[in-house]
Amino acid sequence: MRIRRQESADRIQESKNMEYGAQMEHIAVIDFGSQYTQLIIRRIRELGIFSKIYLPDTFKIMPEMKGIILSGGPRSVFERNAPKINLEQLDENIPTLGICYGMQLLAHLRKEKVLKTGKSEYGRATINVAKKSKLFDGLPKRFKVWMSHSDSVFISEHNGLAKTSRSDSDILSSFEHKTKPIYAIQFHPEVHHTDFGQKILGNFLFNICKMKKNWNDSNFIHRTIQEIKNQVGNDMCICATSGGVDSTTAAVLAHKALGMKLKCVFVDNGFLRKNEFTTIKSMLRELGLNLYAIDASKIFLRKLKKVVDPEKKRKIIGAAFIDVFDDFVKDRFTGCKYLIQGTLYPDVIESQSPFGSVSATIKTHHNVGGLPEKLGFEIIEPFRFLFKDEVRKISKKLGLSPDFINRQPFPGPGLAVRIIGEITMDRIRILQEADAITTKIIESSKVSESLWQYFAVLLPIRSVGVEGDERKYKYVLAIRAVTSLDAMTADWARLPHPVLQELSEQITNNVPEIGRVVYDITTKPPSTIEWE
Ligand code: XMP
Repeated sequence: MRIRRQESADRIQESKNMEYGAQMEHIAVIDFGSQYTQLIIRRIRELGIFSKIYLPDTFKIMPEMKGIILSGGPRSVFERNAPKINLEQLDENIPTLGICYGMQLLAHLRKEKVLKTGKSEYGRATINVAKKSKLFDGLPKRFKVWMSHSDSVFISEHNGLAKTSRSDSDILSSFEHKTKPIYAIQFHPEVHHTDFGQKILGNFLFNICKMKKNWNDSNFIHRTIQEIKNQVGNDMCICATSGGVDSTTAAVLAHKALGMKLKCVFVDNGFLRKNEFTTIKSMLRELGLNLYAIDASKIFLRKLKKVVDPEKKRKIIGAAFIDVFDDFVKDRFTGCKYLIQGTLYPDVIESQSPFGSVSATIKTHHNVGGLPEKLGFEIIEPFRFLFKDEVRKISKKLGLSPDFINRQPFPGPGLAVRIIGEITMDRIRILQEADAITTKIIESSKVSESLWQYFAVLLPIRSVGVEGDERKYKYVLAIRAVTSLDAMTADWARLPHPVLQELSEQITNNVPEIGRVVYDITTKPPSTIEWE
């Protein structure tokens, strides 16, 4: 087993590079740090074409790249440390489109002028097409676009380049090469505020790159099943399934490829919501998965005895999860070398991008529940190029129920990060009860549809109250309900007063240990969604 694992460890780099869909024709988007880079990928995929992000310093043209897009970015091309590529990294015969900073870079690389003139354009602008261009095919001569730049490009036209449009502020808004498929636009076609943005991207993809549609849910499912089959062959494959959308969808997909050769392992750390171990187990079994459910709650609880520091809690839970999982797998599935994980594209991008470093730091603690490479498995990550909503679409296509697909996110360490202070069996039970009431009331009030998350948090303090003629000291419970698009920022939900009133009444009446209910009215930032 050990030797086998070491061999596998040696192959990790190789397997990490074995990207699902790696051989597919696609559009390469080189990321120069724009906040819109992911949006470019989304828009291209919406048009039915596969697209991936690359970093400038490691970018190398591959045969399956049918077109290249240079993204925007926050820097000036003439700054010393601005991200760049060399002309040698590109190929003049492969269609290339520079967007914003990408346009400035294409000009700069060809020794054209890029200057800070003091004239900038932010937000809506109108451009006037001055010359027939394949990129603007079928568009009016004048249309509105979204700009975000303070440097401007000046083209001499000696380099075989032609100016194709100007903005109302008399700034060059696009140019192209007269004979080569090189195009540049100062505005952002990927942003909704640009009229005909999708038409422009479509012109690039279909008329200039001559691509055929190759990206949709059915293709993805079909291809991924085949790829998993080819990779795993007659071996076994393990999936650490938490009952969340990503890991469950990955498991269902792998199950279609491998049948009983896929072993799903579900670890109960003891911090699940009320009855969740049982409900998730039956849900996963109903999906036909070959499930091994491990109740490891006592181990986790023992390791967390007297621990109050939030980071320590998370680390202990993460390490205990790995131990429990590894021991079980060594014991039951000796020789298994494949592990399937539901890693999503934003995590991949953040972990590799220097531009994503801030958010990457914020999120490192979220990896609790993930398994480290040193376990020695060859890791299969079928969703490493997918965004969350794309995974949701795949789950729907695979027949998973809407209730399951739209479940609210639940952190890997579970209720442990919602019990402030020391975790005891008693406190887990109290929070499970209060959380179940909270969920039920919010879900029956219809407001839940507009919420990102809603849950209860048990505080370590007791406050005074009266019951009959007696003074009592009981726990304080906080309710957290937030709206959010991506969990990076969040606003507290304006729950209707009758809902708040019902929450407080039902919880204090039905959970005798709780004497006071408070509502969290903090946005993220400065707070986070979870309390620990
Ligand atoms: P915060 O608290 O950082 O949370 O604002 C943002 C989102 O991430 C979820 N979260 C986690 N998810 N493992 C996870 O899979 C974790 O350890 C974890 N911690 C927080 C949180 O519920 C929210 O949706």
